[in-house]
Amino acid sequence: MSAATTPSVESAARGAKSSAAIGFLSSSPKKLLIGGKWVPSKSGKTFETINPANEQVLALIAEGDKADVDEAVKAARKAFEEGKWSSITPHQRTRYLLKIAELIEQNGDELAELETLDNGKPLSQARAIDINGSAGIFRYFAGWSTKIYGDTNPSDPSTFNFTLREPVGVCGLITPWNFPLMMAAQKIAPALACGNTVILKPAEQTPLTALRLGELIQEAGIPDGVVNIVTGFGPGAGSAISEHPDIDKVSFTGSTEVGKMILAASTSNLKRVSLELGGKSPNIIFPDADLSQAIPNAMSGVFFNSGQVCVAGTRIFVQQEMYDNFLDQFGKAAERMTVGDGLDPKTRLGPLVSKEQFDRVKGYLALGRKEGARATIGGEAIEGKGYFVKPTLFADVNNSMRIAREEIFGPVAAAIPFKDETDAVLQGNDTTYGLAAAVWTKDISRAIKVARALKAGTVWVNCYGLADTSMPFGGYKQSGFGRENGKYAIDLFTQIKSVYVKL
Ligand code: NAI
Ligand code: MG
Repeated sequence: MSAATTPSVESAARGAKSSAAIGFLSSSPKKLLIGGKWVPSKSGKTFETINPANEQVLALIAEGDKADVDEAVKAARKAFEEGKWSSITPHQRTRYLLKIAELIEQNGDELAELETLDNGKPLSQARAIDINGSAGIFRYFAGWSTKIYGDTNPSDPSTFNFTLREPVGVCGLITPWNFPLMMAAQKIAPALACGNTVILKPAEQTPLTALRLGELIQEAGIPDGVVNIVTGFGPGAGSAISEHPDIDKVSFTGSTEVGKMILAASTSNLKRVSLELGGKSPNIIFPDADLSQAIPNAMSGVFFNSGQVCVAGTRIFVQQEMYDNFLDQFGKAAERMTVGDGLDPKTRLGPLVSKEQFDRVKGYLALGRKEGARATIGGEAIEGKGYFVKPTLFADVNNSMRIAREEIFGPVAAAIPFKDETDAVLQGNDTTYGLAAAVWTKDISRAIKVARALKAGTVWVNCYGLADTSMPFGGYKQSGFGRENGKYAIDLFTQIKSVYVKL
């Protein structure tokens, strides 16, 4: 769409309610943040970002590509080499990051509304989880700036040897659309805490909160060029980042398919790569589990964020004697979930993020039936405007069906029966992914044995989906490598130098 056909700014069409969100949306097209300035893309191209609840255009967004990424890298390189950020005191970096956290909280209602408009998720969840979570991430990593240590090493008496833990340099951060602000925070905050400069490429489906964050970062007084934001598509702006010879590190969250492409592109200059990719997580329920907890948690485990969650518990393993009872109880509870526009306070399940995801998930609903699975509830989209899919439970699933092997990223659960503990672990681990897993049992020994046996980066015992910024997060197998959050994130954004001093 060209600027000549800019959509109307009427809030009604967009669904925006607060004057702050309407104000932000009406300054469209949104620009790129490069070297502290908001600039249009060099090509002049823009793209639309859509409200998935009503398919209306929310705003036009600058479509950055290689030429814009080049400028952003120049700005980030200059800021890095001049030491505007890496050479200020760690205490100063702490203050800046705390200021960003404060500004996110102060503008939390607006950010939550923008997130719901752009992504579709229920507003209360956007506010409580995405926005508060993002502020919390900045606050957590603010504390790390002053706690990044090297070692003094056991030297020969004729030398004094120590290590320095230094920033990696210019970091490219490529984020997905399921938790747009939070994924940006999860990468920007540790990168900045360690003294790096960054180029953020938000997902094309949901660029709004990252752009608003860019404004808040400027308001916090972060020096120009330290944080650059280039909106655009994967094959344009994204691949320009992963191929760029002057980017030192790429941190990526998204599909396994693109993760492999990013790793391949990194060989051009051997940039560091960390990848947080897809999942097909097993949620194993033993007969002695407290079903009053296991069932609602299995539901939120697979339906939260309309199933668009990398750790979604999409394969629910249920011991065969209790299988029918489980199907019945889960189905009854899931059918009571209100599906609708995320801005409606009654909504528990919002739309899928995009037409592409909507078509993809509908494809898997058809495939499940073709493979011989039975949808006990849902199994179809909702007619009319918006990308709504009914919460779905597939029964009679076997672990070798494609709906049990491929990441669907929609509100689609697969219930798979198992015989005993050994069978549950074997089937649970029979996947190319390894992001997360859960086990439900009152038997503490079984819980710990199964937690040890599951090949996953996170295992929940008698809970699902808990997260804490102090806990490492990342994948086994094709769910990626590197651990975000906690002290492990500091490893991702620093490198170690050995210094020998001859005495
Ligand atoms: P994607 O992996 O294509 O997109 C994620 C990010 O990567 C976006 O910012 C995108 O612009 C960028 N990107 C795409 N192609 C690129 C390239 N060649 N080089 C560099 N960056 C590139 O994911 P997509 O297509 O939006 O979703 C497809 C599937 O991926 C989903 O159905 C889901 O299964 C999975 N996914 C997993 C996520 C997770 O949290 N692990 C998040 C998003 C998607
Ligand atoms: Mg893609």
